[in-house]
Amino acid sequence: MSNIIPLDQVDSTLVEELLDRAFEPERKTRTAYKVREGTEWLPGLSFAAIDENDMLVGTIQCWPVALNSPEGKAHPMIMVGPVAVLPDHQGSGYGKALMTASLSAIDPRAPLPQVMIGDPEYYGRFWGFTNEHTTGWSLPGPFEQRRLLVRCDNPAVLPEKGMLGPWLR
Ligand SMILES: CC(C)(COP(=O)(O)OP(=O)(O)OC[C@H]1O[C@@H](n2cnc3c(N)ncnc32)[C@H](O)[C@@H]1OP(=O)(O)O)[C@@H](O)C(=O)NCCC(=O)NCCS
Repeated sequence: MSNIIPLDQVDSTLVEELLDRAFEPERKTRTAYKVREGTEWLPGLSFAAIDENDMLVGTIQCWPVALNSPEGKAHPMIMVGPVAVLPDHQGSGYGKALMTASLSAIDPRAPLPQVMIGDPEYYGRFWGFTNEHTTGWSLPGPFEQRRLLVRCDNPAVLPEKGMLGPWLR
């Protein structure tokens, strides 16, 4: 039986190895890494998937980021991802289970908007992420606008323009 557990119960070396296998070797040069530079992943929203043989097969990490408006206001958000499932375990529901674990762990009393870079066909279909509100948003590196996604209870609160970066307190 597979299981979803908090990511901080897993050896960080194993997590890095899994990310190396799920992504290309240059993964650390991705724009997503620049957005969250200098922050730590949020333990309450980050999870691991363990298969029936007790092997680590997937992870999800969430990060504190902010959309910085041209007026100089920082709008805090949760950056979701990377979501990673080992290639030979993909298509078995682990991605969905990891995403659902993270999104369900967000405090409903203060639900910050969630932002991610990913395929709208997947993250829109299952969780309602959309690129509709992000057309005026920028990132500190190259990105495909259609893959910059947000999920929010009340999109009216989202700034039209801004640069996404780390939320550093
Ligand atoms: C994207 C990823 C996390 C999905 O996890 P997964 O465990 O393979 O997916 P699930 O088994 O939960 O979901 C499978 C369903 O999602 C669909 N799906 C999976 N990836 C998809 C994508 N990129 N675009 C559209 N649909 C996708 C499948 O077709 C399947 O649909 P079905 O149920 O109708 O057959 C995984 O494939 C992965 O780790 N990929 C490499 C790393 C990556 O690109 N991560 C995302 C960016 S952070």
